[in-house]
Amino acid sequence: MGGVTAVLCSSNEHKARELERLLPGWTIELLGVDAFPPETGATYYDNAAAKARFGREIGPADAWMLGEDSGIEVDGLDGGPGVRSARSAAGDEVGWMLHALDDDERRGARYVCELVALAPDGREFRGTGTVDGRIAHEPRGTEGFGFDPVFVPGGEEQTVAELGDDWKARHSHRANAARALLSALAAAPASHG
Ligand code: IMP
Repeated sequence: MGGVTAVLCSSNEHKARELERLLPGWTIELLGVDAFPPETGATYYDNAAAKARFGREIGPADAWMLGEDSGIEVDGLDGGPGVRSARSAAGDEVGWMLHALDDDERRGARYVCELVALAPDGREFRGTGTVDGRIAHEPRGTEGFGFDPVFVPGGEEQTVAELGDDWKARHSHRANAARALLSALAAAPASHG
């Protein structure tokens, strides 16, 4: 699918640039609003769909709307903070995580990403992606954002912030979700034209 203009219903420029790289031929803009509805859904899907529908209400009618919700699930936090990641960490993801785990050695973790795309004609598509790893004892690296300086993917020694944007474009939870979304779009019958 090429030549798509999509509006990402988020204020996270990192996510927009990552998704633009992951969705070939798509131009991704951020929805230019100061405030988004609170993320109160029980699932990543609920939050991603709510963001996309909010964009559909106020954004350009001829653009695709993309809603994205992601989080991190940590063994030593009984699978938390999960869908509450953004609310829990409140902009200090690394400090919050290292403090929450302290010296707990149950550091297995996974990133989860849910993407919802709403076509101009109202059809809805979704893609889910995960990546397994563990939480490091101290932050390392400068690329990425959020928990990346303390997340070491399975099979790697470096954090995502050290592995960098090229690694993320191939292997991240968002990359896996984008691939799933592209598969769903490819499998759908064309609506018109
Ligand atoms: P939300 O999807 O914007 O609600 O973000 C959920 C939380 O997970 C925020 O604290 C983000 O910083 C964090 N997060 C989401 N994706 C990533 C990622 O790719 N790397 C690191 N942290 C992430």
